[in-house]
Amino acid sequence: MTKPVLFSGMQPSSDSLHLGNYVGALTNWVKLQEEGDAIYCVVNQHAITSKFEPEQLRERTLTTAAQYIAAGIDPDKSILYVQSDVPAHAQLAWILGTMTGFGEAGRMTQFKDKSQRFGAEATTVGLFTYPVLMAADILLFQADQVPVGDDQRQHIELTRTLAERFNSRYGETFTVPEGFIPEVSARVYDLQEPTAKMSKSAASDAGLLRILDPANVTKKKIMRAVTDADGEIRVDREAKPGVSNLLGIHSVLTGRALDEIVAEYEGRGYGDLKKGLVEVVEATFAPIRERTEELLGDRGELMRLLAQGAERAAERADATLRLVHERIGFPIGAAR
Ligand code: AMP
Ligand code: TRP
Repeated sequence: MTKPVLFSGMQPSSDSLHLGNYVGALTNWVKLQEEGDAIYCVVNQHAITSKFEPEQLRERTLTTAAQYIAAGIDPDKSILYVQSDVPAHAQLAWILGTMTGFGEAGRMTQFKDKSQRFGAEATTVGLFTYPVLMAADILLFQADQVPVGDDQRQHIELTRTLAERFNSRYGETFTVPEGFIPEVSARVYDLQEPTAKMSKSAASDAGLLRILDPANVTKKKIMRAVTDADGEIRVDREAKPGVSNLLGIHSVLTGRALDEIVAEYEGRGYGDLKKGLVEVVEATFAPIRERTEELLGDRGELMRLLAQGAERAAERADATLRLVHERIGFPIGAAR
């Protein structure tokens, strides 16, 4: 049996990944690289559809890649690379764009949301065709499965439609991929507003735990997390969202059952629960932080790893692109 091909990508749009990214995506990707032929891409070409600064973007691209390696993505097992290093993404996106309806792209809810937020001035053609580039990312690798969050469901559906459309017009070319969306993905909530998902775009920074933050910053945020007045340590998402979130994080990071943790803290105060969580979070973050710093301290080695990833990615992507060119009647052989 050949392993399923897995492809996923993340935008380098922040200085550090946060606990939600770690629990909801990263740990999953690390697991999946054992079961599949996994390809992970830092999608910096997607990132320039939102506001960005060139130097900051370059730094964030490397920091994102470093954090993935530090958390356990093994560049020998998986292919890890930066999107802009593989020209085939943009080349296939152009072709797929000619097969995407204007109305079809206009129905993407992420585009509708973002264009409304950005306003007419900042809404570009690139933002509009963002999902077409994403389809190209996936189809270039003939991916079977695409592990993503729930918000990407509609983009995966468009990718499938484009693959089927191409195949029926020009002959079997692309694998039609499936979304791999964890049903009960462990959700992490904001420490200050525990009914909302932990997110880098939250109104206040105090509820966000970043992997690369210094230990004392993380500690302060956990100790100041919102709880409630009844003083009882138990899970009740409706009535006690703050305490339930702290218990949930504790459980998912230690791999211990919720009941066990509740029993451990029974009859004790919220202060104890928070102190325990500070240790658990630090035990998770500290090694990732150290390894990330090490990797960023040796740019030559990091660039070498990414160059090697790009080379392996390009070889596979170019093979698909060649087939596509052949199918649609572009001369092949002359071009590299
Ligand atoms: P984002 O930073 O929103 O682009 O998210 C990147 C990935 O991290 C998504 O695919 C989600 O699966 C995951 N993620 C983000 N925030 C959370 C959260 N609060 N809880 C669980 N998973 C999350
Ligand atoms: N759009 C995805 C997101 O915002 C990122 C992404 C780009 C992606 N290309 C991809 C995810 C290909 C999976 C596969 O999260």
